[in-house]
Amino acid sequence: IADAGLRKLLLSRIRDVPDYPQPGVVFKDITPLLADHAAFSALIDALAALCVRHEADKVVGLEARGFILAAPAAAKAGLGFVPVRKAGKLPGATLRQAYELEYGTAEIEVHADAFQPGDRVLVIDDVLATGGTAEASMALIERAGARVAGLAVLMELGFLSGRDRLAPALAGAPLDAL
Ligand code: PRP
Repeated sequence: IADAGLRKLLLSRIRDVPDYPQPGVVFKDITPLLADHAAFSALIDALAALCVRHEADKVVGLEARGFILAAPAAAKAGLGFVPVRKAGKLPGATLRQAYELEYGTAEIEVHADAFQPGDRVLVIDDVLATGGTAEASMALIERAGARVAGLAVLMELGFLSGRDRLAPALAGAPLDAL
């Protein structure tokens, strides 16, 4: 959804790394983008604008790369930030959600008291691939008594059809891929 200039800037700073982390996978490395102030700040501005557009009350970032984007976007938009972490990392009472990986399962958590009842939450991550991580995070947000205002990602790997998988969980909420 980014305009042509922003899209070109962002794409120019994302590096394809073949055969990482395993043969046959092309890893999308965002570290060149993060290291470039113009590209990084333009990305954060765009994400902050989505927080405002979707009338979010809180911003969730998904560990770990999602944190790097969600926290500054939340601060810029004048909102609080809530981390969704891999299981075992949060100190307080948590809600935990399991999801399927290609081989096996993973679990993520959020603090049970992270939201006010009915909070509108924008979820931010770097990449939408299969959608498993985002789907589990949205289930956590609902279980914690909040509502999903939308999902915003830097990149969507369309060939993995994550958007289709997420349609029920989004229930009409917007999915924006910059
Ligand atoms: C990556 C990425 C997304 C998720 C997308 O995170 O940052 O969170 O996978 O994949 P999915 O749509 O198939 O669920 P990863 O688990 O590699 O964690 P990291 O950010 O800590 O490296």
